[in-house]
Amino acid sequence: MSKYTLHINGKAQAVDVEPDTPLLWALRDTLGLVGTKYGCGLGQCGACTVHIDGVPARSCLTPVSSVGKQKITTIEGLDPNAQHPLQQAWQELDVPQCGYCQAGQIMTACHLLEQHPKPTDAQVDDAMAGNLCRCATYTRIRAGIHRAAA
Ligand code: FES
Repeated sequence: MSKYTLHINGKAQAVDVEPDTPLLWALRDTLGLVGTKYGCGLGQCGACTVHIDGVPARSCLTPVSSVGKQKITTIEGLDPNAQHPLQQAWQELDVPQCGYCQAGQIMTACHLLEQHPKPTDAQVDDAMAGNLCRCATYTRIRAGIHRAAA
């Protein structure tokens, strides 16, 4: 085991884990930040998406030892009151069905809106292509992003 200080949602957090432990498990199991979900563990579904220095990253494929001083943002850190415009839009439009993938969806959508404050459908589809939803809520996800951008 090795000790690391991670910078998560504006706070320094100590973890004591094996160096190759995926960030996902440090977040969920060590720090109790369970909003970030485990889907495939292979980098293919996007359920585990967090921001590392503002860029969406697959926490299931990110060893804790590789994070260093980079700033990690999870769904819990997006807004102190869970009222980010995307979270508001998700509630207003009942975007989730089972909800499992939605934290990852929102983290990816957040980065999209930072890059493109008024994205086109094509930009939405392109940005969100790596985030899978087994309930196929894609139409509502797209609507939610447009609502948040309005
Ligand atoms: Fe990380 Fe699926 S759990 S991409």
